[in-house]
Amino acid sequence: MRRILVTSALPYANGSIHLGHLLEHIQTDIWVRFQRMRGNQCIYVCADDTHGTATMLLAEQEGVSEEELIERLHADHVTDFGRFGISYDNYYTTHSDENQHFLNLIYTKLRDRGYVYTEDVEQLFDPERKLFLADRNVRGECPRCGAPNQPGDNCDSCGATYDARELKNPVSVISNATPELRTSKHYFVDLPKFADFLREHIHNGSQQPEIANKLTEWIDGGLRGWDISRDAPYFGFAIPDTVDKFFYVWMDAPIGYLASFKNWCTANNEEFDDFWRADSSCEVHHFIGKDIINFHCMFWPAVLAHSDFRTPTKVHVHGMLTMDGEKMSKSRGTFVLAKTYLDHFDPDYLRYYLAARLASNSSDLDFGREDFVARVNSDLVGKLVNIASRSVGFLAKNFDSTLADELADPELWEEFVNAQTDIAAWYEDGDTGRVVRRVMELADKCNQYVAAQAPWQRIKDPDGRDDVQAACSMAINLYRVLIGYLKPIVPALAERSENFLNADALTWDNTTQPLVSHQLNEFGHLLNRIELKTFNAMIEAGADKTPPDPEPEAEQNEYIQIDDFMKVDLRVAQIKHAEIVEGADKLLKLRLNVGDHERTVLSGIRSAYTPDELIGRSTVVVANLAPRKMKFGLSEGMVLAAGPGGSEIFLLAPDDGAQPGMRVT
Ligand code: MSP
Ligand code: ZN
Repeated sequence: MRRILVTSALPYANGSIHLGHLLEHIQTDIWVRFQRMRGNQCIYVCADDTHGTATMLLAEQEGVSEEELIERLHADHVTDFGRFGISYDNYYTTHSDENQHFLNLIYTKLRDRGYVYTEDVEQLFDPERKLFLADRNVRGECPRCGAPNQPGDNCDSCGATYDARELKNPVSVISNATPELRTSKHYFVDLPKFADFLREHIHNGSQQPEIANKLTEWIDGGLRGWDISRDAPYFGFAIPDTVDKFFYVWMDAPIGYLASFKNWCTANNEEFDDFWRADSSCEVHHFIGKDIINFHCMFWPAVLAHSDFRTPTKVHVHGMLTMDGEKMSKSRGTFVLAKTYLDHFDPDYLRYYLAARLASNSSDLDFGREDFVARVNSDLVGKLVNIASRSVGFLAKNFDSTLADELADPELWEEFVNAQTDIAAWYEDGDTGRVVRRVMELADKCNQYVAAQAPWQRIKDPDGRDDVQAACSMAINLYRVLIGYLKPIVPALAERSENFLNADALTWDNTTQPLVSHQLNEFGHLLNRIELKTFNAMIEAGADKTPPDPEPEAEQNEYIQIDDFMKVDLRVAQIKHAEIVEGADKLLKLRLNVGDHERTVLSGIRSAYTPDELIGRSTVVVANLAPRKMKFGLSEGMVLAAGPGGSEIFLLAPDDGAQPGMRVT
């Protein structure tokens, strides 16, 4: 028996659980359930990541203490994850005695061994709120391109990266005050001293190959000290022997894995050191997203190794989840919260879909709504669940729900059983996409078998009754194998299946032992098909109705030059066709005649015009705007309109006589 400790990254305690978190926790949970099903000891811990400026500011904004805020969010997170069947042994908090204990232990060891140094750091300081400003809490003009309202680390407009001190006309996001430069002493972990250790460590099998490459690049580029302190006021743990210095949240966050596990050990009489002493033969597996590999694959193992702890066996890194090809967005409604999802769909659909899309690498993965609906309906329900529902009726009606006393097609059975070795290897590797593909291939085979046996015809033949029982019993047994293989992915469907199968709960071993001369329980409903319109309603329900912050007004004297204006190619266009865009409540899709050619433009004017009102009319189009790939298709240009919005949008329409293609000057 392997002894395995598993973690998912700790969600921040300043917002709700969303599909991105769920991707990770579902991926982890599938791996954990697989290990347990095989009979390994597998302990799964997580926690909320509670510390930092964001928690402090949010608590202040809500007029509650930080403790109250994180307690509320803890309960909220536990409820959400619980409803998706995430099977933690402990979901703790980083704001705990255990965490402070391990943090101080690790820090003092590093310090006493000469791995910590201090240095003065100059930073932007908010004189009104009296705090140093993190990069995301300051905005100003990009030092390279001058774009207004950019954050303190990089420019959304030109992509430049810079130091917050380089921003022009910076403003504190917290108080709107103009920041000042101030200097203060910071504590650093001397990462360059760990370079040799890291070079070895990243090739010890604990990293995915593409991650090891990335880390090598970073190390080759030269490591710098890691700043682990923040000045008061800060919600976190104080640094021993300092006044007003706190540990940066990312210093105590991974230590939260130790603390959550320790807390579980105390309650369950297990030995913490078995898992964490430097020469432990137990395994430790972390599941994280690729945005936080520096913390988990460099800082964390270096810190552990130099404070007498073991390092992780493996870090499993997944990519980022996008929706319909774009970053999840609050205003578009694609930033789907766990709760919103649950108002519309069964958790197993999401578990199944994400499992089908995941592989053992860190590529990003896109959640496509049509893809989701199709895979659930045609694969999960149409292929898999259908095997059970079409066979069980014959058995109930004619054979007292009793399975035949032997397997009708031993060869087919062998094929199903033999698939288990590969499937286990894929689970172990995190390649659940392949697991799902193989199971669906087998489901196809099973359906072909049933179709060839045609029980619905044989039953009409008085001599065919035994064949019907044999075929349906075979199908039910094959179904059971497949559900056994998928059990880590769809635990609730597996449980409902176990109920009607009326046998022991499925384990990795008993999955491949057939049920013969066995009576089934009454068949309850297993799973419904789903509809695209439910998905659209979910997006609609999640869409943030409050408009985004308005862009700051342009300065009065910000003229553009005539050359700038001449760059804009404005043309008369005639609307040949207009139609509603399914799923987009603001957009109309326009087909425009621009003289020598036609093009398609997506325009946000649906609140003011019906398609019929537009067909045949002329308008003005920005003809040389770079085509933009939007969620609902490619838009090749932009039509001009005026007005505040809603029903008051007025399409600019040239007088009669202006022909399609004419230049507007
Ligand atoms: N609190 C830190 C982690 C500390 S671990 C010692 C953090 N929190 S987070 O809430 O921002 O993210 C938690 C996890 O969710 C990370 O692994 C992150 O990669 C993952 N995801 C958050 N949004 C995601 C997507 N859109 N897609 C996939 N995973 C994403 O980082
Ligand atoms: Zn810029």
